[in-house]
Amino acid sequence: MATALILLAAGQGSRMNSDLPKVLHQIGNAPLFAHGLNAGAALCPERTVVVVGHGGEQVAAAARAMDDTIEIATQTEQLGTAHAVLQAKEALKDFEGDVFVLYGDTPFISAQTLENMQSARATHDVVVLGFEAADAGRYGRLVMQGDKLARIVEFKDATEEERAITLCNSGVLCGDAKTLFGLLSQVGNDNASGEYYLPDVVEIAWKTGLTATSVACDESETLGVNTRAELARAEGLFQAAKRAEMLENGVTLVAPETVFFSLDTYIGRDAVIDPNVVFGPNVTIESGARIKSFSHLEGCHVSTGADAGPFARLRPGAELANNAHVGNFVEVKNAQIGEGTKVGHLTYIGDADIGDGANIGAGTITCNYDGVFKHRTTVGRDAFIGSNTMLVAPVTVGTEAMTASGSVITKDVPDGALALARAKQENKPMLAVKLFLKLRALKAKKAEKGQ
Ligand code: UD1
Ligand code: CA
Repeated sequence: MATALILLAAGQGSRMNSDLPKVLHQIGNAPLFAHGLNAGAALCPERTVVVVGHGGEQVAAAARAMDDTIEIATQTEQLGTAHAVLQAKEALKDFEGDVFVLYGDTPFISAQTLENMQSARATHDVVVLGFEAADAGRYGRLVMQGDKLARIVEFKDATEEERAITLCNSGVLCGDAKTLFGLLSQVGNDNASGEYYLPDVVEIAWKTGLTATSVACDESETLGVNTRAELARAEGLFQAAKRAEMLENGVTLVAPETVFFSLDTYIGRDAVIDPNVVFGPNVTIESGARIKSFSHLEGCHVSTGADAGPFARLRPGAELANNAHVGNFVEVKNAQIGEGTKVGHLTYIGDADIGDGANIGAGTITCNYDGVFKHRTTVGRDAFIGSNTMLVAPVTVGTEAMTASGSVITKDVPDGALALARAKQENKPMLAVKLFLKLRALKAKKAEKGQ
């Protein structure tokens, strides 16, 4: 069965007190809306429509940047959740299959829960995701009749008896596209809010001989983000869940509570992550790699047996091949570090290709930027770069070549050559002793004069 996702992201989120649309605030270095879509990805959706409104241009751009197959529908006036879903009807007019309605500000719905809803579709036309609320507050209430869902009543419109129900509406639902859009076109706005309520499709289904049911999830999955405080709390919950997932997948986290992940962080089994490591977006770490303390990684790949840190900074485009070693106070950006290559200390490697088995001495810098353009540095297999070498790009150091420490390399170094590019050393016999004598005599004279 084909699946489409409709993600509602038109709300203003005024309680965030922000110029940024609510769904673009981030948890795990990914916008809020991306979390719902990430869970939805488990359903292998054929189509995804994001309904935007407030800050629509910005939200649309962020959605397209994430996945250029995402379609955008615009809700110019926020007339209610049913009206919001209807905005996706045109985009999905040729779609045949099931539609899932998700929310941009509800990041924790799990893939498993969506799959449970999909299973329930085998026996019901509409499936609503419900939850037992500790404090039902102003949530919509699910009115069940046996295993069937008869209707959903909004808190504002509910009787005292209905308000006593604790099974609440998460808002997430699914159904066949044609059926759902058919039901939606019958939803009115004659209610306490004067809004078109998405949950009204349940009662219309009931009255027209279709069946609806509810699938329950844990209340924690339905957590919404409305304020900065809730955003901070959601970040904490996200990190806790991601740490648990990593441990479950066989990753060693020496001090889990000090390691921070992004939504898309991938770490292979038997990798070891020491305390205080931050994973920015788009990082993959292979099995058996080790990341030592106080390292910050983003947009990089670390292969099997490689290690980085302590205090390593791996920036976008950094790729460490098998068994590469990147040590303390080393920054790597847009550069390949070859197999078994060592970059041990105090070094900047940017816009470079470093071959296998090379050794990069302490204090080496690739001078990649001339103030206007960026240039590449190439270092061949088994080359030895002496400490404090400046590699002024564009420049190539050949295979098994060597640079003398302190060199400023501005010309290519042929394979196997030694490049010396520093002032020649000159020794003046006994001159140091003479200088000391002179300076000490001067000091004594000054002391006599009371200076
Ligand atoms: C909705 C449900 C309620 C459920 C609750 C769970 C309705 C009528 N009620 O109430 O049963 O318990 O969610 O949190 O659906 N949105 C749009 N366009 C609109 C209106 C809303 O995109 O015109 C988006 C909002 O940005 C928000 C989501 O839909 O992300 C939910 O809307 P909201 O008004 O917050 O619904 P609730 O009153 O919370
Ligand atoms: Ca609301």
